[in-house]
Amino acid sequence: MNFKKQSPREIVFFILKEIFLDQHSLGQAEELFLENLSHSERSWAKAFVYGFLRIFFSLENLAKSYLTKPLKSKDQDVFLILLMGLYETRFMNTAKHAAVFETVGLLDGINKTWAKGLINACLRKDLREIPELKISYGPLWWEKNIKKYYPGNYLKILENSQKQAPIFLRINTQKIAVLDYLKLLENLNILGAQISNQYLQLNSACDIRELPGFSEGWFYVQDISLQYVPELLKLSPDLKILDACAAPGGKSLHLLETEPSLDLICLDSDSNRLERLKENFQRFNLIPKILCADGENINFEGPVFDRILLDAPCSATGVIRRHPDILLLRRESDLLELAETQLKILNNLSQYLKPNSYLLYTTCSVLNLENDDVIKKFLKQNPSWISESISLPVGQKTYLGWQILPGENPEQNGDGFYYAVLKNTLSA
Ligand SMILES: C[S@@+](CC[C@H](N)C(=O)[O-])C[C@H]1O[C@@H](n2cnc3c(N)ncnc32)[C@H](O)[C@@H]1O
Repeated sequence: MNFKKQSPREIVFFILKEIFLDQHSLGQAEELFLENLSHSERSWAKAFVYGFLRIFFSLENLAKSYLTKPLKSKDQDVFLILLMGLYETRFMNTAKHAAVFETVGLLDGINKTWAKGLINACLRKDLREIPELKISYGPLWWEKNIKKYYPGNYLKILENSQKQAPIFLRINTQKIAVLDYLKLLENLNILGAQISNQYLQLNSACDIRELPGFSEGWFYVQDISLQYVPELLKLSPDLKILDACAAPGGKSLHLLETEPSLDLICLDSDSNRLERLKENFQRFNLIPKILCADGENINFEGPVFDRILLDAPCSATGVIRRHPDILLLRRESDLLELAETQLKILNNLSQYLKPNSYLLYTTCSVLNLENDDVIKKFLKQNPSWISESISLPVGQKTYLGWQILPGENPEQNGDGFYYAVLKNTLSA
């Protein structure tokens, strides 16, 4: 590639190429490329990337309709540039002909000037004819599973997963009250609203690191659907707790804010993510007790924990609106593998919970396969365990737990999230 000075459009191309062709996550791609842009350029590039990924599958169908034969696999970067052009002319504020000109110009940077005529013709045809965009919500496996599990409301879930998610701040009320923090923000012309006694919602996106109290741990960015973790873990002072998949530490910090006397161990298998956990704890002026190990086979000396939180690795299908790259990167075969991992971690860690104590299993998945189905298998293999009934103000009861769907509650508009409270009824 021979881009000289990287324009925001070129950066968008680099980010999308990283996801679309190299199968890297949006987070990784953003870290690599966004830093090089000014504040306003970054906002433009982010709006482009996120909007593009949300509508990717519809754009893909449209782009294919303009090509008499598919582009070769070595020219998928050209296909990506066509998709970008269609997105920019249809959805961004750029003047149409400038968008076409600039998009075609991207081909110089990848030394594929032979495709200029083709891309130019496709984009001009689209501008002339403006065919209606047929909405596709994602790959087949996604639509198929949502229809299977939610026959009555699948369309709402698919639609909501394409929408932009609100930003929620969980205020560390040990440091500042929600209303006082809102006032502070208002003085800086950053508007928001109180959503609960711990949460506020921002009216628009901003650079979180520049908000007051970031380095002092006054808040943590966390979705509202996750607010019930401390309550469902039935916390009381001095309990010994294992947060089994803890990084980057959002739920661990929430537990400690709720009950500072906890003896909390943060376990995770990913050392890089544990570094982020350490940084987050540092902001809150706390030093975490960390274990970097695999939850599937780590050993402890018998049932030593009063509570275990297992926020299991999952498909993240409840947070597609925040991570729209998920639908491009996940494969259907991942789902069964994830469900197996979840069950293995659950089976291993459950041995280390004291009798008559609680394990809270959570995922940000909306698929039963990773939720009730895992719990069902676990209960079958561990007859002394039961699942406790849950009742929350948002979401619905499932056979063995509780499911919140993305954006289902207009007042709170949280992510998709699943909870199951498990109890070991074996006496000591
Ligand atoms: C949903 S994320 C956890 C988010 C975290 N609880 C929070 O609130 O910030 C799942 C985590 O599980 C970790 N993980 C994946 N497989 C694991 C395993 N076998 N053992 C331990 N941790 C694992 C991942 O590294 C990831 O950090």
